[in-house]
Amino acid sequence: VLVFMMNLKEIAGFAAAEEIKDGQIVGLGTGSTTHYFIKKVGLRIKEEGISLMGVPTSYQSFLLAKQWNIPITTLEEHDLDIAVDGADEIDPDFNLIKGGGAAHTLEKIVDYSANELIIIADDSKMVNVLGKFPVPLEIISEATKPVFSELRDMGADPQIRMAKFKDGPVISDNGNFIVDASFGEIKNPIQLEKDLNSIPGVVENGIFTQMVDKIILGTNNGVKILK
Ligand code: A5P
Repeated sequence: VLVFMMNLKEIAGFAAAEEIKDGQIVGLGTGSTTHYFIKKVGLRIKEEGISLMGVPTSYQSFLLAKQWNIPITTLEEHDLDIAVDGADEIDPDFNLIKGGGAAHTLEKIVDYSANELIIIADDSKMVNVLGKFPVPLEIISEATKPVFSELRDMGADPQIRMAKFKDGPVISDNGNFIVDASFGEIKNPIQLEKDLNSIPGVVENGIFTQMVDKIILGTNNGVKILK
């Protein structure tokens, strides 16, 4: 029996790269799915000669952009035409949980700035209700205790994210702690996104609402587009 495994992240990432037009300023998301997007954008520059510039959302996407010879710019220099980013969970209203890779703060800034936001994922990321994936929060380290106390009052059981290849906590690209807080089923993501950001010491939370224009999913039957 020949078992042919399709790489669903690659399918989604490559399809999104085909949507990029010559001359655009492009937000470059973070994660294992955007990895394929960035690679394919680099290949299109090389093979088709299209010209564009990327705005990275992390050190990871910065380094990938460099690897694939994508010219880099910043939000200071250019307005963004489009951003393409991954997600950890996507609900039917296009609300997201992001930050599994601790990059959600800059991702939210870049994604929000873009005229058009496309989210790419394998179809396992679609859920009916957000909340199985704990909500990532980037916090100022000094605020850990008061932030935890607020999160517990809101019904969560917060954990400082610990590093795998370093002793102690994960330190974000911005030098902060990452906290994972599970709230169970999130009935009102728009409200929770606002409530979390109103806690002093929280830099940004990983709930993204009201900003996605299009979802490109990799499925075993090929690309599926939701708008
Ligand atoms: C980075 O912090 C995240 O927001 C990623 O965009 C998200 O975790 C999706 O990552 P994968 O594409 O690796 O699943």
